[in-house]
Amino acid sequence: MTSRSIRQLVHALAITEGAGVTVHRTIGTPRVRHLDPFLMLDHFASNDPDDYIAGFPDHPHRGFITLTYMLDGHMEHRDSMGNRGDLRAGGIQWMKAASGVIHSEMPQQTNGLMRGFQLWINLPAYEKMSDPQYQEFSAERIPVVKLDGARVKIISGEFAGQRGPIHDPHTAIQYFDISLAPETAFTHRLDGSATAFLYLFEGSLQTGGTAVETHALAVLGSGNEIAVSAGPKGARFILLSGRPLHEPIVQYGPFVMNTEPEIRQAFDDYRHNRLVRIRAQTVSK
Ligand code: FE2
Repeated sequence: MTSRSIRQLVHALAITEGAGVTVHRTIGTPRVRHLDPFLMLDHFASNDPDDYIAGFPDHPHRGFITLTYMLDGHMEHRDSMGNRGDLRAGGIQWMKAASGVIHSEMPQQTNGLMRGFQLWINLPAYEKMSDPQYQEFSAERIPVVKLDGARVKIISGEFAGQRGPIHDPHTAIQYFDISLAPETAFTHRLDGSATAFLYLFEGSLQTGGTAVETHALAVLGSGNEIAVSAGPKGARFILLSGRPLHEPIVQYGPFVMNTEPEIRQAFDDYRHNRLVRIRAQTVSK
């Protein structure tokens, strides 16, 4: 086993998105433009309604998947496929925008804590113009494994014989929310060819002799295992890995394609009301 050390540590940038929502972005910034197959990671965490109340009114996406994980709070999702989602604490939402979706994500609370993550996962070229899909899972549907001072919530991938509800055949995403008791050590096998990172959002930890602070992204180097130890107050972090696509990425805002002409086509389709091709898909609850 070769433990992966930290290749790059990135502190989040505060960015204003949607109609004026503050998010903390790590992937999708000048320091980490992309982390193939991951295109963006936003962490939203605020007690101040001014940071989130405006929400994300109708906006388009094409060419990738959005995966939202709510830690605290309540958001309503509506999209051009006809889905109406109710995203509450501990729940996840997976939306394959593919050929085109227009959706809104609006807070259903006027005060209190709103906290979670939105991750963008790229699609391979042959999937970018496929039909969109939507899935939503409430907290009770997401397995949690407790083991030697660790609590692992499995959003995608497999841990200790349990599988998370999200299956991604193209990039084989593993997505865990891991809580460690103070001074607890944690190891996990990772596919040696997968891109992997962790994002610490509570407490402190060390991996490969490097300390990671709260709200930092640690991009992991090569190896087939991660070994982490929590600090004196414990640690909570998300651990992600995925198979890189090794394809050209051309991104313009909410459209992520392989070439410039495809981006121009996306803008043209959006302007002429042709972005959305599919208006009814199944919803699984
Ligand atoms: Fe969106």
